Amino acid sequence: NTIDPTKPLLALTFDDGPGPYTMRLLETLEKYNARATFFLIGKKVLERRDVVKKIDKIGCEVGNHTTNHLQLTKCTEEQIAYEIDTTNVYIESIINKKVDLVRAPYGSANPLVRRTVHTPLIHWSVDTRDWEVLNAEVVKHHVLEHAKDGEIILMHDVHETTVEAAIELIPILIEEGYQLVTVSEMAQVKGYTLQDGDVYHRYK
Ligand code: NI
Repeated sequence: NTIDPTKPLLALTFDDGPGPYTMRLLETLEKYNARATFFLIGKKVLERRDVVKKIDKIGCEVGNHTTNHLQLTKCTEEQIAYEIDTTNVYIESIINKKVDLVRAPYGSANPLVRRTVHTPLIHWSVDTRDWEVLNAEVVKHHVLEHAKDGEIILMHDVHETTVEAAIELIPILIEEGYQLVTVSEMAQVKGYTLQDGDVYHRYK
């Protein structure tokens, strides 16, 4: 998985899974030796252990998207800690690796959230609104129009239309010269040291 730092990088990210279509997406990523980051919901993780294992096995990255998809800014410190820690334990029990990225549901974070998650918070710079449009062509064109070096693209692999869009997008983006990498790989190549409690939207 060598990355050429002189060529553009793109971080595709998928939230709210694992879902019934995630495996198809992983097969396409694997076929093109491409990577993405999956921010998983804890309560779904134990039902699809095989998917979680596969994400890790093909070099994609697993992040924490809380246990119950709560808006963390409305939670107490104890609730935030539960939402993060429980999902970390679930994921770590499956992939035997520490989870060190969080994406807060709705990108909603405040000082209490930032201090309680004990990881960097990875948000996004390109919002496809795929959950709203539910149309593979529209999502595909949105990504192609907004793709630029260093961007973090937000999608949701729980929608079949999104997975269809991503399956078409992956070879097109590669053909356009993008290296599809995880958010941690992109941070490293761009010279960022991710800090616990900081919020990242893109790497420039
Ligand atoms: Ni979400």
